[in-house]
Amino acid sequence: MLVPGDKSITHRALIFSALTSGVSHISGALGALDCLSTASCLRRLGLSVEPADLGDKPEGAAIKPAGRLELVVKSPGIRNLHFDSATTADPLALDAGNSGTTMRILSGLLAGLPGNFLLSGDASLNKRDMRRVLEPLADMGAEVTYRQNPGRAPFVIGGGKLHGRHFDLTIASAQVEAAILLAGLHAKGRTSVKMPAKVRDHTLKAFMHLGIAFENEGLTTSVDPLFREVVAKDFTVPGDISSAAFFLVAAAIVPGSSITVPAVGTNAGRGLVVDVLRRMGATITYTNERLVNFEPVCDIELTAPAELTATDIGSEEVPLGIDELPVLALAFALARGRSRVSGAAELKEKESNRLSAICKNLANQGVSVEELADGFMIEGARHLRGGGAWPTHDDHRLAMTGLVAQLVADEPIKIGEVNCVDISYPGFAADLDQLVAE
Ligand code: S3P
Repeated sequence: MLVPGDKSITHRALIFSALTSGVSHISGALGALDCLSTASCLRRLGLSVEPADLGDKPEGAAIKPAGRLELVVKSPGIRNLHFDSATTADPLALDAGNSGTTMRILSGLLAGLPGNFLLSGDASLNKRDMRRVLEPLADMGAEVTYRQNPGRAPFVIGGGKLHGRHFDLTIASAQVEAAILLAGLHAKGRTSVKMPAKVRDHTLKAFMHLGIAFENEGLTTSVDPLFREVVAKDFTVPGDISSAAFFLVAAAIVPGSSITVPAVGTNAGRGLVVDVLRRMGATITYTNERLVNFEPVCDIELTAPAELTATDIGSEEVPLGIDELPVLALAFALARGRSRVSGAAELKEKESNRLSAICKNLANQGVSVEELADGFMIEGARHLRGGGAWPTHDDHRLAMTGLVAQLVADEPIKIGEVNCVDISYPGFAADLDQLVAE
């Protein structure tokens, strides 16, 4: 089962192309709504982002959501970006849709540009915390004004006169690290970031691919101002392990199943789902291991055990797979014994409050769940009773978890709105149907 392109890598390949000048092809790019939000923001900054096969569509036409796209990006270079209007009174409006990654990483780029930008998103994104990224950027000299609620979008960012400094982050967020490093490339002096824990290092891998210098020691990364032009370079995007996670769990919870997911990115900062399913008894092997644009990629083969066993996830592991916790909760619900997740309060800060939503949704299907302040405890059973409501809160990962849960439920689950899967995985329901049919 081939999964769509990696969301984190696609966002970075797109956003970092603003640092380059020239033409690049992004092969296997995720064409889900979140990445299309990034593409449309970049278009407004003067980049051209088009499908390689434009057909009879004019340049600038809306791109149809798809799991994998061949994109051609033309960038005039960071010093030649052109925006329609960008004064404090009339900032350039950029819509990040539902995408926190777009809003946060793009802020790091915009902070160093000579202009003013009004960033906003949909109702869910406008409720999410942006202080974690905007406070460090303001400390570097960016001017930030909140338009409605402090710490939330919509906000105006601009300034352009940044100075580097050191940040000791308390939130293990790869998005915040990426934003600070991007800003650091256009700041005076050195910028460094120390992370509280290991996170996905797609930013550093992409910098290596583009030849952008940085220093990294343990959890600390530093950059110096980027004085030279960066030449555009093609990217090949591997499959998204966060999307593969739904199929890995689907296979793991059905005894006798096995699955191969080819060409998946296995960045060391995203190893949680594989580690946890192995601990629960699944046999998982990596074949055809290789590096693609410095990112580790392989085919993942999983064979389900006769019975899954419970395991715990502690705070040090959570950043390695925060997006996979909802679907792992489903695996816990079908495992022998009690599983506990702790140190995962960050789950409340995602597209919805995923902590309470996943606990309630599983409880509605007869699962014994205890919601904790920073995680949950689940007493597994061999069956999922089903029959209960499964609100999705328009959250793609909750919707996909519900569709997987449906595979093993005794009664039909009353799943809410599922069109939101297009945020990260257009065509998910059809791919899941195909998997079941095989
Ligand atoms: C992402 C990092 C994670 C993840 C998100 C994508 C990224 O968020 O949940 O889906 O691309 O850097 P945080 O950085 O907030 O942990």
